[in-house]
Amino acid sequence: MDGEEQIVNGNGDEPLELEALEEAPDSGEELLLSSDEFAKWSAVRLEDPVPCLFLDASLKILFANRSSAALFGIPQRMPGLWFTQFSAPFFDESRSAELFRAVRSAESGHRWIGSIERTGIDQLLGVYKVWILPLPHPSAFEPRAFQAICLDITPEYHSLVQGTFASLLEAALRKDNDTGHHVERVNRYARELASDLHGRAGWPEVNRQFIESISQAAALHDVGKIGTPDDILNKVGALEPWEWEIMKEHTKNGAYILRRYHTPMAGEIALRHHERWDGTGYPYGLDGTQIPLAARIVAIADVYDALRMRRTYKEPYPHERAVETIAAERGMQFDPLLVDRFLAMAPSFARIFSELADSA
Ligand SMILES: [Fe+2]
Ligand SMILES: [Fe+2]
Repeated sequence: MDGEEQIVNGNGDEPLELEALEEAPDSGEELLLSSDEFAKWSAVRLEDPVPCLFLDASLKILFANRSSAALFGIPQRMPGLWFTQFSAPFFDESRSAELFRAVRSAESGHRWIGSIERTGIDQLLGVYKVWILPLPHPSAFEPRAFQAICLDITPEYHSLVQGTFASLLEAALRKDNDTGHHVERVNRYARELASDLHGRAGWPEVNRQFIESISQAAALHDVGKIGTPDDILNKVGALEPWEWEIMKEHTKNGAYILRRYHTPMAGEIALRHHERWDGTGYPYGLDGTQIPLAARIVAIADVYDALRMRRTYKEPYPHERAVETIAAERGMQFDPLLVDRFLAMAPSFARIFSELADSA
């Protein structure tokens, strides 16, 4: 690459590392902006409060302005990263293909507008609205570079999700025979148990996002009962075998209802919260770690709360008896290592139950 075509980074004081760019299959000097053009665009954008990245024709990152570096919590210089790689795993093969098709197509105006998800260094999921637009180049028919403008819409996204979540939960509560604050307590127990696992050896999938997700998704474990006939759901006395088969369908109904929920965890919990560690649960008789961890956690939380509640067929159990009942199912109904953690922190369950007690 000769001096005239050399690209400088956003600080304007140091050449950008370009080895990785030169290895890109379809990026070459002729596709890049001249140093003058690049300097002009990056000077305009460097201090811009709108987060902005410059990408080469193969969508590799050339430059990140200060707002985008702060937004994504990344170093300002990101040579060698493709935009899609930077947002992995959101940009899987099909999303990447769709993006590349759009920016290469004159029909779409060489632009792509969409939203992406990206896990930050805080382990939490961020959602960003992104515009990828061509940078004008007077002598090129095809765009030689792009700018990606990114807006953080995580708070708006969360409030939308929470609105949907609240409506769905409200609909489920109108239908279900579980009363009072049961589902709120299940959320709280699940959060507490997941938080206890966080950072402990043996539970690598439990990060901050896992804890946030289970704290909302646990409450939806029985949302599939919306599809269960009232006369079965509210029957006083034992269910006939055929009625029981219909009752079991609430797991699959829940997974179907939640299939487009923002986290697949919600559907997994709905589908698997009646599976048992020893493989004798339903709907599929999965065993051990075939059952997703979130569902194994919710199974303990749900049963603890059900034991503590008054039901038509039983008096409420005191805390100690509920704990003993769960301990007796160690390695049978429940994950043995999770039961060990539950036993170590059972007083927190008792506290949550009394903090969110139902009125008599
Ligand atoms: Fe259930
Ligand atoms: Fe429940």
